[in-house]
Amino acid sequence: MRLCFVGAGKVGAALAVRLAGAGHDVVLAESREGSASVAAALARSPALRSAPLAPAVAPAEIVFLATPYAANEGLLSPLAEALAGKVLVDCTNPVGPGLSHGLQSQRSGSQVLQALLPRTRVVKAFTIYGYENFEDPAYPGYDVRPAMLFCGDAPAAKADVAPLIDACGFEPVDVGGLVQALHLEHMTLLWVRMVRAGGQPPGIVWAALRR
Ligand SMILES: NC(=O)c1ccc[n+]([C@@H]2O[C@H](COP(=O)([O-])OP(=O)(O)OC[C@H]3O[C@@H](n4cnc5c(N)ncnc54)[C@H](OP(=O)(O)O)[C@@H]3O)[C@@H](O)[C@H]2O)c1
Repeated sequence: MRLCFVGAGKVGAALAVRLAGAGHDVVLAESREGSASVAAALARSPALRSAPLAPAVAPAEIVFLATPYAANEGLLSPLAEALAGKVLVDCTNPVGPGLSHGLQSQRSGSQVLQALLPRTRVVKAFTIYGYENFEDPAYPGYDVRPAMLFCGDAPAAKADVAPLIDACGFEPVDVGGLVQALHLEHMTLLWVRMVRAGGQPPGIVWAALRR
């Protein structure tokens, strides 16, 4: 698929390298001039290329958003027309003071994005763990893969994203509509509080066990 990454830092680069390695056509958007993260990501894989923001987004079927949450609105508002009809994978998290929810748990960052881009199909994914797990999703010794919980209102968009989650080494677990994004953002805060603040090693994930 033709994929575009807006944001090529710790999260964006890890996923872009994996998806390019899986044979997808991956373009890194130069989300701002002279972006050090884009240059560093390009150096990691000859399969990656970059382009200015609008030309990078235009041909993409799926756009990954992996920027600081506070940058989202300013970056994407001018792209509303270009993003119409596309799938936007929201990897961002609104984080507030003291590792609280950045929107006071009133609504999710993904719902704010969906309201900003009503003709784009927003899917929230790749948010519930630290980037270390996107770099290396392997948990040897278990016969299940780490679960990647994802949500969105458009079934066809989720059907497009699920194989990408799989290609990144996770079991895709569809948890429902975008209304679930708030709960995924709280799961993120749980992980962040356990690991970044609580001192547990980042190699900890959730798995889906079924019977
Ligand atoms: N870190 C994690 O473990 C993790 C895990 C899951 C989700 N997330 C979420 O994923 C998002 C990205 O996190 P990250 O850790 O990958 O951040 P990061 O390493 O700091 O990378 C951020 C990316 O966004 C770009 N960027 C920063 N400010 C921008 C702006 N104002 N306009 C345009 N581009 C801008 C940066 O470009 P430059 O090179 O120009 O700075 C870089 O490519 C965040 O919303 C975070 O909450 C993070």
